[in-house]
Amino acid sequence: MTTLLANAENAGPLADYRGLGDAVLSERIEAVRRRMGERLVILGHHYQQDGVIAHADLQGDSYQLSKSAAEREACEAIAFCGVHFMAETADILVNRPEQVAARAGRRVTVVLPDMAAGCSMADMAAIEQVEDAWADLGSVIDTSDITPVTYINSAASLKAFCGRHGGIVCTSSNARAVLDWAFSKTKRVLFFPDQHLGRNTARKMGIPLDEMCVWNPHEPRLGGNDAAQIEKSRVILWQGHCSVHAMFRPEHVDAVRASLPGVKVLVHPECSMEVVDKADLAGSTSYIIKQVQAAPAGTQWAIGTELHLVKRLEQQHPEQTIRFLSPVVCMCATMYRIDLAHLCWSLEHLEAGAAVNVIRVDDETAKWAVTALERMLAIS
Ligand code: 13P
Ligand code: SF4
Repeated sequence: MTTLLANAENAGPLADYRGLGDAVLSERIEAVRRRMGERLVILGHHYQQDGVIAHADLQGDSYQLSKSAAEREACEAIAFCGVHFMAETADILVNRPEQVAARAGRRVTVVLPDMAAGCSMADMAAIEQVEDAWADLGSVIDTSDITPVTYINSAASLKAFCGRHGGIVCTSSNARAVLDWAFSKTKRVLFFPDQHLGRNTARKMGIPLDEMCVWNPHEPRLGGNDAAQIEKSRVILWQGHCSVHAMFRPEHVDAVRASLPGVKVLVHPECSMEVVDKADLAGSTSYIIKQVQAAPAGTQWAIGTELHLVKRLEQQHPEQTIRFLSPVVCMCATMYRIDLAHLCWSLEHLEAGAAVNVIRVDDETAKWAVTALERMLAIS
């Protein structure tokens, strides 16, 4: 049951929106926001393009946005300007059974303005591969001594797998605290899907590289390892990566240091270990923003994360010198698919009571995924 306004006069096919200029689209988006008021919340990830961010009620990193979704009770609809796994997470958290019951059975509608806004990293760990890996691991080690940890950049089915097996979700803001929690329970961690975040975090905790192995899901046996390697590994890293952050290379750090003496290199932990090791600082998108905000005028930065965020920081901090770490464009092409036309189209349909691109995680998956998400929210 919903009390969304029945205002169908504008809602038409997506093609009708494509020819409209940005000014018209922005005005129509703001008109929906005014009419729907607090019943609508627009969430925008830091990597989103500026035109879309301008309409967001909250801009944040994956952790902040999922926390915010968990706390939203008054709203009737969330438009998630991010990627698919983020909208799934919002649906799972905001529609927990006790919350739905407290709203007299009303679910919050979560929409992703463009369904093609996926995450290539999340797609690198399909649940069937994960189930196979777990069974395979069980043939050489005791799986009750492994905590599965998934980066929030993963499908709901993988979060549910972690929930079912005593595991947990992490984000780039809390990966360290989550791994501490995991190691307080078990000897080993199986970390999905980003090998770089897993390796960089475990290294910071003092775990040596020879106590980590990489699990290649395309190998027929033990992810390409032998039993002895698995036996001595405390961290088993799923062989996934972010195609955007993989484009930053250690030689880019060398080049920028040579051309800009005194520069501070600041990168996201989805970058490879070789890049993180050469950088001055590494952290989540919010961490990156905070470092720049806190720096004195005249600070010189080379930043290794998604282009839209770096460009925005550059505009917001003309008193500092901000450079993009890579000589080539590294942007999240899937997140970029969410543009004003898709946002306007999805909002006008939502308002008309004919929501499109609704993200709805099935109850059984959501039940176990929320178990893993709540473990994370409880410790950080
Ligand atoms: P954070 O928002 O956690 O920093 O992650 C960056 C990212 O790649 C989102 O997909
Ligand atoms: Fe996925 Fe990388 Fe895009 Fe983040 S930046 S959504 S990890 S592809």
